[in-house]
Amino acid sequence: MDYFDQVAEAAAFLTTRLRGLAPRVGIVLGSGLGAASDAVADGVRVPYSEIPYFPQSTVEGHTGRIVAGALGGAPTAIMQGRVHFYEGYTPREVTFPLRVLGALGVRAVVLTNAAGGIEQGLQLGQLVALSDHINMMGWNPLTGPNEPRFGFAPGAGLRFFDMTEAYSKRLRALASEAAREEGFELKEGVYLATPGPSFETPAEIRAFRTLGATLVGMSTVPETIVARHMGLEVLGISCVTNLAAGLGATPLSHEEVFETGRKVEARLAGLLARLTPRIDALLGAEAQG
Ligand code: HPA
Repeated sequence: MDYFDQVAEAAAFLTTRLRGLAPRVGIVLGSGLGAASDAVADGVRVPYSEIPYFPQSTVEGHTGRIVAGALGGAPTAIMQGRVHFYEGYTPREVTFPLRVLGALGVRAVVLTNAAGGIEQGLQLGQLVALSDHINMMGWNPLTGPNEPRFGFAPGAGLRFFDMTEAYSKRLRALASEAAREEGFELKEGVYLATPGPSFETPAEIRAFRTLGATLVGMSTVPETIVARHMGLEVLGISCVTNLAAGLGATPLSHEEVFETGRKVEARLAGLLARLTPRIDALLGAEAQG
């Protein structure tokens, strides 16, 4: 069975389990950021282990289930936990869940992550909307034959496609407005992705700053590339869980990343509950024509 058929089978399985719920918005929750899934009313919870061909998360803090239901009133599919390249998964495995969201009918994704802050002045726990990214993973998830059947929107599924607005301007505007209403400012920044799993050296962080990076992390970029290939709109939100290597007083640790995530997950959950119905309304109005 080829990759497309595996994605289709996983999506068909989820469609059955979701019993008529048809989410237009998908959310991926990063390290320690799972609280938004608790805000889902009457959610259907499906462990990744039950979904055909779905990769299993091996990292502490990544629960590994899909929670689908109403978030702020809008039908939403939330992935609580993701898989990473550093776990040993191939690029196609890392992005399999995004393909399934696309096949399920999701047309916009909110990708969240824990990130190290490179730019001066970033606060621990601060949420930052991604304006762009730099792919330093050394690979691209679309390497190999193009699969045009993954084009779920008009003009999508192409071999070569534009990435000048990888992160949707209009979704960033909605997010900024929702954050203001929640009582905080949502800054924007450029996210640079490394393959991990080691954190960076101070020299690497200095180099990344010169390259124009605001934040550094080990996820999201492959998911964004695949989402854009399918024609999905992307909103990226980083939680600054630590200052990047060489900028803080203490050595970096997964515990710090996880603990800071824990402290801000409620704020992120509030933002997502306010924002998701607005994204859903925007997409719904377009679907009407
Ligand atoms: N570097 C890379 N990935 C990360 C970091 C970091 O400092 N913090 C959270 N994820």
